[in-house]
Amino acid sequence: MKYFIMFGPPGAGKGTHAAPMVKKYNLKHISTGELLRSEIAAGTELGKQAAALIEKGNLVPDEVVEGMIAQTFAKYPEVNGFLLDGFPRTVQQAMDLDEMLEARDEYVTGVISLMIPDEEIKARIKGRALIEGRADDASDETIANRIKTYHAKTEPLIEVYKDKGIYHEIDGVGTIEEVQKRVFAMMDTL
Ligand code: AP5
Ligand code: MG
Repeated sequence: MKYFIMFGPPGAGKGTHAAPMVKKYNLKHISTGELLRSEIAAGTELGKQAAALIEKGNLVPDEVVEGMIAQTFAKYPEVNGFLLDGFPRTVQQAMDLDEMLEARDEYVTGVISLMIPDEEIKARIKGRALIEGRADDASDETIANRIKTYHAKTEPLIEVYKDKGIYHEIDGVGTIEEVQKRVFAMMDTL
């Protein structure tokens, strides 16, 4: 099994590029954000607890997302691998993922990191707010907190994965087609 991580700040294009990637490389897409939004839509207890955190732009507890990841790994034995989108997002989650994979004699194959500047994040999220109506896209305050949370808690993972020699950064600025070409060119080498 291959385990790819789609890394990047909010609005970088993780979801946009994950869709064609999973088709081309026969991977199962696991977006923790999407899984949490389904829990919210279904009105589950987990969803109710997550909604309050997500709407403010804060992270949900590590054990909640890790539980969702473990369940999804177990459900799809027939794929070539998994594309993790929005996970891991803290150093603790990265360590726990390593442990989860080691228990299966597996490891992270590569981290595809889409990088865009903060101003571009704001512009893209504002654009998406008009189309998708996500609660965490609705206010400037929440968007600012998501960006702050990314820099404080998620950005440190870049060094973690650079040290392991599996960090692959891609310039996320450009048209979707241009960025997709860069992503595929990188994936073809991994
Ligand atoms: P999540 O859903 O993962 O949100 P995110 O990381 O903030 O990322 P987004 O989904 O906003 O952006 P994206 O990179 O997928 O960009 P997209 O392709 O949509 O998480 C939501 C929340 O859930 C978190 O804040 C947290 O509370 C919680 N959560 C999730 N995972 C967690 C975890 N592991 N631990 C704890 N909490 C967790 O693109 C954005 C827009 O830009 C789209 O409109 C798109 O069409 C457009 N676009 C894309 N590419 C381009 C381009 N090249 N040019 C112009 N426009 C573009
Ligand atoms: Mg997304």
